[in-house]
Amino acid sequence: MNAGYGHQGIVDAAAEQMLRLPYATNYFHFGTEPAIKLAAQLADLAPGDLNHVFFTLGGSDAIDTIIRLVRYYNNSLGLSDKKHFIALEKGFHGSGSNGAGLTALPVFHEKFDLPMPWQHHIPSPFPYRHPEGPDGHMIIEASVAALHQKVDKVGKDNVAAFICELVQGSGGVVVPPEGFAKAMENACRELDILFIVDEVITGFGRTGPMFGCEHEGLEPDFMTLAMGLTSGYSPMGAALVSNHIYDVIADSQPPGVPLGHGLTYSGHPVSAAVGLEVLRLYQEGGLIENCQRVGPYFEKRLSEFKDHPLIGDVRSKGLLAALELVTNKTTKEKPAADKNIGPRLARAGYENNLIFRANADATIALAPPICIVESEIDLLIDRLEKTLELVMDIKE
Ligand SMILES: Cc1ncc(COP(=O)(O)O)c(C=O)c1O
Repeated sequence: MNAGYGHQGIVDAAAEQMLRLPYATNYFHFGTEPAIKLAAQLADLAPGDLNHVFFTLGGSDAIDTIIRLVRYYNNSLGLSDKKHFIALEKGFHGSGSNGAGLTALPVFHEKFDLPMPWQHHIPSPFPYRHPEGPDGHMIIEASVAALHQKVDKVGKDNVAAFICELVQGSGGVVVPPEGFAKAMENACRELDILFIVDEVITGFGRTGPMFGCEHEGLEPDFMTLAMGLTSGYSPMGAALVSNHIYDVIADSQPPGVPLGHGLTYSGHPVSAAVGLEVLRLYQEGGLIENCQRVGPYFEKRLSEFKDHPLIGDVRSKGLLAALELVTNKTTKEKPAADKNIGPRLARAGYENNLIFRANADATIALAPPICIVESEIDLLIDRLEKTLELVMDIKE
């Protein structure tokens, strides 16, 4: 809920669209006005030449759309061996039957026969627990080397793409060292593999700028969006495709033959109308500006927890943050499994009127609406302090 609750303008935009045209097919070269306008605005705002937009219902189908398009692109070029994907450990790329194998969280794999043989992972650039950490340069060097090694092992001609989030959200809000993503983009160019950025969480001001890619001037071949696109008021995601990919796919289609990819509710006009109003709020409504203003305050207040006896690591980028709990700050030991820390933390937060994601590995993840103001951040911090008091016994 990037924009927060209760925006009458968003409700009005949806209601007006429902009266004018609640739905029309987007197959057979049809399109609806709000979806066309939203695609054009996203193409204008997105980095590089990401000028083509395929709308989905959320993040998972945006990832699966991109996997399909990467295959189609390489097959169109006659590069039919380029089928393997490399992702990061701790990464999350949704629950699609393809994307869930690029996700690298054990519960998304076990008993689901994942990852598939064409899905590979390299270590997460996690400063707090990386063997080369916390030195950012060393982590970046190790990550680039790991990508090269993986490509060597799988075979250069067999690797299609590397995919990553810019902050690993579900994996515990892992904030890579500055320069990591650019170094990985450069490595992809050198290795001749496509570079895909999953901005489902980081898109739309969450880390400061409109898109996380702007921090390091990234120009990926593909980018995903969801969540902030409609600010949760209705479902919608997007796969953004760069010109050079689009052109190869379009040129390889025989005249009159459609590309066999579509979703009944792709570009749903009501969600698109919501998206247009939300995009207006980001820009004219000052939401992105607000995130840039209060993000540093949020990060500063959270950093006070570095001295807390239970907190081993505080990590944040804009209004996306995590506190990692440990029982020993020197050895970084995690709470024992029988302390059941995840559910206990969630309950303790709830009792203090604070809802957050409490990961089983003892991490509190925070992503407040980007309309949050300083006094609400102070309230959040107070409640967080009280929440931690309720779990002090995990050290025993
Ligand atoms: C980085 C990232 N990619 C993809 C997804 C999947 O999105 P959805 O739940 O909308 O399918 C998520 C969801 O949390 C995500 O965080």
